[in-house]
Amino acid sequence: MRAVTIDDFGATPTVTETAKPEPGPGEILVRVRASSLNGFDGAVIYGVFKDMLEHKFPITLGKDFAGTVEAVGEGVARAAGERVFGVVMKPVVCEGSFAEYVVVADGYGIAALPEAVDFAQAGALGLAGTAAVDVIDAIAPKAGETVLVSGATGGVGAYAVQLAQATGATVLATAKPGEEADFVRGLGAAHVVDYTGDLTAQVRAIAPEGVTTAVHLVGDPLQLADLLAPGGRIASTLGFGPEAAGDRDITVTSVMANPDTATLERLAGAVADGTMKVSLAQTFPLDAVDRAVGAFGAGTVGKIGISVD
Ligand SMILES: NC(=O)c1ccc[n+]([C@@H]2O[C@H](COP(=O)([O-])OP(=O)(O)OC[C@H]3O[C@@H](n4cnc5c(N)ncnc54)[C@H](OP(=O)(O)O)[C@@H]3O)[C@@H](O)[C@H]2O)c1
Repeated sequence: MRAVTIDDFGATPTVTETAKPEPGPGEILVRVRASSLNGFDGAVIYGVFKDMLEHKFPITLGKDFAGTVEAVGEGVARAAGERVFGVVMKPVVCEGSFAEYVVVADGYGIAALPEAVDFAQAGALGLAGTAAVDVIDAIAPKAGETVLVSGATGGVGAYAVQLAQATGATVLATAKPGEEADFVRGLGAAHVVDYTGDLTAQVRAIAPEGVTTAVHLVGDPLQLADLLAPGGRIASTLGFGPEAAGDRDITVTSVMANPDTATLERLAGAVADGTMKVSLAQTFPLDAVDRAVGAFGAGTVGKIGISVD
């Protein structure tokens, strides 16, 4: 099968022929139809997690998947042809979803895909969508509150803005003027703040006492922490935790995305009923993953998709 692999840290992702994997007990072989880029993929290429996670070369890149069940191992009740999507969750970084097939465990990191959601949308939903659900659940905004989303234009941010807006809270989203600002307004942001200017002054002009909640996906977390009103809540996907907040009167949650089936079903349901938009800025075929990685690193508006024919 074709798979996008690297044989060392820093290597250019290349399409190679590898053996089609087989599902063991409790596992599912998925015929992948779509995926998308996440920060994790770039981090794997550049060895960011090499001291934290076990890596086994050659590594097939890719976390998100959407496709159909090709075969199942012993004890799995899913039928061949069933539409599924999710996130590859393996203890060793080795087998990913930028490939024609991937083996995943049943029961975690996988959910049924409703007919109303296409593969391209579902391939862009798993990790970023789950991270967005988890950060918004952590800060639990309420109607009448304010939510500052730093990184609102990105994959996680685009979902987080929509989830925050749906709570009835007022969303302040970071974006550059022009296309990016229009993009976050279209997702439901009431205010746009330009992070290339004086972010603090812009946020204080909208919320003089500070915002009640914030989401940290990019930028300086302490700047965001200082923009919270007393008693405010902030959640981060970048490891900013309570100990780093010092004696500020705020609640800090460091989030690791948890793609359990219930969260994946919630996301797919929201896309199916039209309450959540999937924004694909560009889509690249499997043999252009290296260009997709470059486009992701250059800054995205929404997600960058990968199609697998
Ligand atoms: N902990 C977890 O489980 C978990 C899960 C998912 C993601 N993550 C991490 O969360 C982060 C966000 O992920 P993502 O997929 O959304 O990344 P992304 O798609 O690259 O989004 C980042 C966005 O932020 C914008 N940006 C750059 N600098 C900024 C700044 N100083 N202030 C505000 N916005 C800025 C970028 O656009 P421009 O540069 O074009 O303006 C881009 O649109 C990544 O670091 C990722 O690795 C962690």
